[in-house]
Amino acid sequence: MSATPSSRQSDYVGRHLRFGWWSLFVFLLLGATLETLHGFKVGFYLDASNETRRLMWTLAHAHGALLGLVNIAAGLSMRALPELPGDGRLPLISTALLAATVLLPAGFFASGVVFYSGDPGVGIALVPVGAACLAIAVFLLARAVTALSGTSEGGTERRRRG
Ligand code: HEM
Repeated sequence: MSATPSSRQSDYVGRHLRFGWWSLFVFLLLGATLETLHGFKVGFYLDASNETRRLMWTLAHAHGALLGLVNIAAGLSMRALPELPGDGRLPLISTALLAATVLLPAGFFASGVVFYSGDPGVGIALVPVGAACLAIAVFLLARAVTALSGTSEGGTERRRRG
């Protein structure tokens, strides 16, 4: 198989790098917004009766920012290992990762907008769906990287020697 990324592979690299950097930007802005709510001691966010909202929005910020980094890592992995994955699972991996990056933070955020005393709102239903998408994407990527690592290290070694 070719050692340079095919144009289809490059599309996925570009998609995850773009999506990752923009997600990181959006969720850093959410972090800055939370910081501002602290700065102005806004009761809507900080009162003890709104503890659920604070937890859910903190989780939205943290998961969104971290998933942005995971997308960047996925894009760089696809670029570093052009054969990834050898079994045609790239569309599934990519879609599952993008879905997780939207559903997890959106679910946390929505469940903090309207909530019921100590319980998060209905948006929390999106979170397990997002978690399942993330588990699928990460499992398939981990398996593909493992399957390739022997062959691609050998290829790198051959290129160095050759
Ligand atoms: C890659 C970048 C970032 C990551 C991975 C990240 C991750 C996290 C995590 C894991 C927490 C939860 C901490 C805890 O509750 O123990 C958190 C909370 C927080 N982050 Fe970030 N963060 C990032 C950038 C930022 C930035 C740039 C800002 C502000 C400009 C920010 C503002 C906050 C605030 C205000 C909280 C506390 C929210 C609260 O408890 O009310 N974060 N972040």
